Amino acid sequence: MTTIVYEDHDDQSADEIPVRRIKFTVNGEKKIAEVEPRLLLAHLIRRGLGLTGTHMGCDTTNCGACTVLVDGRPVKSCTMLAVQVDGREISTVEGLASASELHPLQEGFKEEHGLQCGFCTPGMMMAAKALLEENPHPTEEDVRWALSGNLCRCTGYQNIVKSVLWAAAKLRSESGS
Ligand code: FES
Ligand code: FES
Repeated sequence: MTTIVYEDHDDQSADEIPVRRIKFTVNGEKKIAEVEPRLLLAHLIRRGLGLTGTHMGCDTTNCGACTVLVDGRPVKSCTMLAVQVDGREISTVEGLASASELHPLQEGFKEEHGLQCGFCTPGMMMAAKALLEENPHPTEEDVRWALSGNLCRCTGYQNIVKSVLWAAAKLRSESGS
């Protein structure tokens, strides 16, 4: 059970605060949480689950730093309510690597120098993961389109695009396609 501790900003008694119980999977682990209906998915992930690799940049659906996958599709978790993931599967950046190996996307960002401060990187990788699962042979234009909802203040994007193309080639060579 995931327990969320809320800030108490008003005079409501604890019994007056509505709470919903939800079940979901995160990075392959089954979870149950009790959440206020207004809780954002990003806060469930960061505060409730302690998965702080999901970053919060703008809190207004602009930057994409909070991107995670819900049932394989990229979503900005600051724009979704936690109750909306009831019965669904969440993937965060913490689930990319295995115990012993980096994911090809993580390798690609290292090989092609796809990050500087790294703040945007988890969101970039999750958006890219969704792309590569749908399209193993992306063009540069496909990558730029898939990442168009994710902002980077440091890199100028060129090396991020190269990183994703590097990962796509690595995944193809691993699968023999
Ligand atoms: Fe969610 Fe910026 S924090 S889009
Ligand atoms: Fe700094 Fe992208 S690497 S914001």
